[in-house]
Amino acid sequence: MMTQPGLVLFVTLAVASTPSRGNNECVARNFGHGSVVCECNATYCDTPGSIQLPPPGQYLSFLSSQTGKRMERSQGHVQNKSTGADLRLSIVSSQKYQRIKGFGGAMTDSAAMNILTLSPGAQDMLLRQYFSVEGIEYSVVRVPMASCDFSTRQYTYADTPGDYQLDNFTLAPEDTHMKIPLLQRAQALASQPLSLLASAWSAPAWLKTNGALIGKGTLKGQPGGKEHKTWAKYYVRFLDEYRKYNLTFWAMTTGNEPTAGELTNYSFQALGFTPETQRDWVSMDLGPALTQSQHQRTQVLLLDDQRLLLPHWARVVLSDIHAARYIHGIAVHWYMDHMAPAELSLSTTHHLYPEYYLFATEACAGWKPYDRGVKLGSWDRAEDYAHDIIEDLNHYVTGWTDWNLALDLGGGPNWVKNFVDSPVIVDRTRDVFYKQPTFYSMAHFSKFLREGSQRVGVSYSLGSDLETTAFIRPDGSRVLTVLNRSDKEVQFEVWDSTVGYIPSVSPTHSILTLTWAVPQ
Ligand SMILES: *[C@@H]1O[C@H](CO)[C@@H](O)[C@H](O)[C@H]1NC(C)=O
Ligand SMILES: *[C@@H]1O[C@H](CO)[C@@H](O)[C@H](O)[C@H]1NC(C)=O
Ligand SMILES: *[C@@H]1O[C@H](CO)[C@@H](O)[C@H](O)[C@H]1NC(C)=O
Ligand SMILES: *[C@@H]1O[C@H](CO)[C@@H](O)[C@H](O)[C@H]1NC(C)=O
Ligand SMILES: *[C@@H]1O[C@H](CO)[C@@H](O)[C@H](O)[C@H]1NC(C)=O
Repeated sequence: MMTQPGLVLFVTLAVASTPSRGNNECVARNFGHGSVVCECNATYCDTPGSIQLPPPGQYLSFLSSQTGKRMERSQGHVQNKSTGADLRLSIVSSQKYQRIKGFGGAMTDSAAMNILTLSPGAQDMLLRQYFSVEGIEYSVVRVPMASCDFSTRQYTYADTPGDYQLDNFTLAPEDTHMKIPLLQRAQALASQPLSLLASAWSAPAWLKTNGALIGKGTLKGQPGGKEHKTWAKYYVRFLDEYRKYNLTFWAMTTGNEPTAGELTNYSFQALGFTPETQRDWVSMDLGPALTQSQHQRTQVLLLDDQRLLLPHWARVVLSDIHAARYIHGIAVHWYMDHMAPAELSLSTTHHLYPEYYLFATEACAGWKPYDRGVKLGSWDRAEDYAHDIIEDLNHYVTGWTDWNLALDLGGGPNWVKNFVDSPVIVDRTRDVFYKQPTFYSMAHFSKFLREGSQRVGVSYSLGSDLETTAFIRPDGSRVLTVLNRSDKEVQFEVWDSTVGYIPSVSPTHSILTLTWAVPQ
């Protein structure tokens, strides 16, 4: 083929003038919901990369904003005198609070199905985004025990009526072909052992008063009776079966949203408990079954439901020494948080029972009747996440777990059409996935707050609507995250007595994480 010299020159110039794409560059797509998503495929995805802190005297900052910045990294020098900014945020390292467990999401049946619709290369890219040190370093994965609404059918692991000994207990194909292989791959990508958390939605229908997995219904009989004993044994069997795949659980909850099956006629899988029946089932059945099993190190979290039930629910269960000795923590969901001030629900519970940690086990965007389903690029939802995480962290919560790790463009699959949003939306027809603004909200915390990080105080030189939370990591380095939900840009400085002054600015509608090492 003949070559035209002019054309070659043109092509060369075009290539040369293309801005070199940093590995952290978002391939932005705007779907008209206020901000952008970052598109990823089998060969490219914007990635924050692993974080090596510069020596003391310098700091790193990471910024995400409505205007399209996504974990944009910059570096600067700490100063030895005040910048003169009106607003000074001082790190008060003598005020010490709770330690972090971790951050993560849920490997639902639907999440697993969505991930597996991608090509193997894109699946791997997606898992790396969540779990690897180049990605956002999730350390917690919630695993539903059998089906929930984010499944394509109703099942439990023991659907043979009358099988009280659970002789016919079997994991489902959703576990053995989808969730377990993906959990193993996630574990292989992670630098630390993942903290797995199990929650059950419904007991087998034949153990229940309503004879169905859905709707209003509880276990038949009374705590201590054969149905309650079988339901405790079911948890142990689940842990046994997953252990055969080298997957051991950090914790399990007493069951997802017990009020759903107790108070309401839920349209999907639920099992009702009152605080009193949950207390008695734990003390008479679940606690003893776990103690006698090979899973004595698996911790038990009560509630797994809305925080407006606190402190009442915790008080009923934990004021009973027979139940309390089997419990380690209190799990909360974020729905209806606006109806339950954090101070009254979370802090009050912490001060009543400081030896039991608080942990957030479920949250998603797109669940409200007037704001349903997937909204690609919604920045409002990123702010909702960051606001709730900061509020929780500032009220003794030790970690925060998102709901489905991945959903499809319709916010499913979900067998009752309870479609919601997810930080990762998969478009299998194009073999791509979109990282929503909420993905970056999670990143601003999950990537920096390693297990063992301890919250410290922040004092303000003057009143501000900025939302902030500060931590000291196990290696002594500092992390400060700042959310600005307003239309105003705010200049401020950070004062840390161990290093000096950090000049900074919080742009309108942004999330900013500052991190710096301190002299040993
Ligand atoms: C993957 O995404 C990158 C960046 O957008 C693009 O250059 C590349 O062509 C894409 N690969 C495929 C197979 O679409
Ligand atoms: C403060 O920093 C400036 C330059 O950044 C330097 O010249 C000066 O010596 C420092 N002062 C002290 C007391 O460290
Ligand atoms: C339950 O297990 C028993 C013994 O393993 C077996 O004989 C029976 O067929 C199973 N029943 C069902 C419904 O799977
Ligand atoms: C089991 O998982 C742990 C990490 O959780 C890993 O270190 C170990 O090598 C695994 N063992 C097998 C047999 O895969
Ligand atoms: C619960 O809802 C189902 C439909 O989802 C309905 O068929 C049933 O009658 C309801 N039960 C009660 C007790 O309201």
